[in-house]
Amino acid sequence: VKILTTERDLEGKNILITAGPTVEKIDPVRYITNRSTGKMGYAIATEAVKRGAKVTLVSGPTKLDKPTGLEKFIPIESAKQMYDAVIENMNEQDVIIKSAAVADYKPKHIADRKIKKTDDDLVIELDRNKDILKELGEIKKDKILVGFAAETNDLIENAKKKIEKKNLDFIVANDLLQEGAGFGVDTNIVKIIDKNGNIENYPKMTKTEISNIILDKIKLLLEK
Ligand code: CTP
Ligand code: CA
Repeated sequence: VKILTTERDLEGKNILITAGPTVEKIDPVRYITNRSTGKMGYAIATEAVKRGAKVTLVSGPTKLDKPTGLEKFIPIESAKQMYDAVIENMNEQDVIIKSAAVADYKPKHIADRKIKKTDDDLVIELDRNKDILKELGEIKKDKILVGFAAETNDLIENAKKKIEKKNLDFIVANDLLQEGAGFGVDTNIVKIIDKNGNIENYPKMTKTEISNIILDKIKLLLEK
């Protein structure tokens, strides 16, 4: 019998991970969301638990099973609820990984009754949501902050801007238009760009493998 031992090299580290989409209500029967399924964030959470970390998972609605062994699981729907959950739990964290696909906008007003159709076009006015990661970047001190960048074009340029704007240690950038990358699939094709501008290109890998690469990088940063 072969016994697989996993090295518990993140023992006792507090890691908060956000995963999945957010959902912004329009009225009691309609909402705005995105194609995120939570697979990447759940894979990171699962691997981090295996490696001994104390994991808080803040998750939008997904069809995935909750990883076992979490320190805390906080289900949320809206970007505002995600913001509140992250801020409330940030102090004790050594690492925050924001793999969630957060809505940038929400309906200005949530109708408390179903919006009825009329003969006219409908305009739904949207307000900006807060950028959670950007706010974390302003107050992070010695925490390690990891972002994701979902792009369809100008991947590296856009991802580099996000590192700067949000004060990240590194960003995991994925090109959503490549087959086997991005939302809904078990694989991803990523580039990891750090705050010094170093770029690592990875081939198509499982989200589990990518999770361990991300956690390896975090481990190195924690040792510094
Ligand atoms: N993010 C966040 N809060 C938001 C929007 C995004 O914390 N309101 C985080 C995401 O979780 C991700 C990173 O910021 O880790 C980048 O998200 P992305 O949507 O790629 O970038 P944005 O800065 O929102 O810019 P844009 O959507 O215009 O590309
Ligand atoms: Ca966005």
